[in-house]
Amino acid sequence: MITFLLLLLLLLLPLFLYIAAPQIRKILSRGVCTSTVQLPGKVAVVTGANTGIGKETAKELAQRGARVYLACRDVLKGELVAKEIQTMTGNKQVLVRKLDLADTKSIRAFAKGFLAEEKHLHILINNAGVMMCPYTKTVDGFEMHMGVNHLGHFLLTHLLLEKLKESAPSRIVNVSSLAHHLGRIHFHDLQGEKFYNAGLAYCHSKLANILFTQELSRRLKGSGITAYSVHPGTVKSELVRHSPFMKWMWWLFSFFIKTPQQGAQTSLYCAITEGLEVLSGHHFRKPSSN
Ligand SMILES: NC(=O)c1ccc[n+]([C@@H]2O[C@H](COP(=O)([O-])OP(=O)(O)OC[C@H]3O[C@@H](n4cnc5c(N)ncnc54)[C@H](OP(=O)(O)O)[C@@H]3O)[C@@H](O)[C@H]2O)c1
Repeated sequence: MITFLLLLLLLLLPLFLYIAAPQIRKILSRGVCTSTVQLPGKVAVVTGANTGIGKETAKELAQRGARVYLACRDVLKGELVAKEIQTMTGNKQVLVRKLDLADTKSIRAFAKGFLAEEKHLHILINNAGVMMCPYTKTVDGFEMHMGVNHLGHFLLTHLLLEKLKESAPSRIVNVSSLAHHLGRIHFHDLQGEKFYNAGLAYCHSKLANILFTQELSRRLKGSGITAYSVHPGTVKSELVRHSPFMKWMWWLFSFFIKTPQQGAQTSLYCAITEGLEVLSGHHFRKPSSN
């Protein structure tokens, strides 16, 4: 009898999980950005906006009326997404510009073009990222995770800082990760030439995002620019593309992990919520300040 009951339980468990999955995902997704702020006349840049969390963040900003620059390394992919966002939101001011964060020449060219064509920049979302790449270097010889996830955004932010100041109040959101807890900054081996582990390299770069945010916020005190770092949650996206194991895990748990739209909520919260200035430098794990 007990064996029968156990077997029945085992058979019913997947069915239960399937039915309960949307509810469980809702609980795990920890809320939405409830701000009603509209953004006409505001200008935003979102890096890595052609897919995943960046695409959804850009869509939400466009929905609220901002002029949104999709800063993408693949302009064709970006154009398709820009059209999709324009159609969905009715906002035609969704623009694509080339930005390869693995190449400082491309970052400088993006910034030069942007500064020449735009009078303002109110929201900069440093979202693009790579995870668990095999050992590679950027064009300038930086280890890929540190180069793209941190140094590329560091340079981009630096180049756009005056424009952000002139447009104050303005905000910078750095998309980090819970993985930063395993990160360390190995100053003696920043490029991972002595020791390299793809997973840890990601963690180190995500820690750098948080340290960068804290220092930015300290240096920018009183300037009208505030900075925040976020963990978007565990989100179904293309981030796992370099790891067959992570791809499998994402697939296995896909019912429970966040959609990119849910993953965009914390970035959005930090970018637009009124009254968040006093929390500049903080790290957010959900779209709420408590
Ligand atoms: N997904 C998660 O569970 C999770 C968890 C914690 C933190 N995050 C963070 O969330 C952010 C967004 O990730 P996602 O999950 O949306 O991943 P995704 O779907 O892989 O999107 C990453 C974006 O970054 C772009 N990118 C990669 N290398 C670039 C480069 N050299 N120059 C410019 N753009 C580049 C990609 O462009 P291409 O399409 O051209 O490659 C893509 O648009 C990342 O910073 C990630 O670390 C994600």
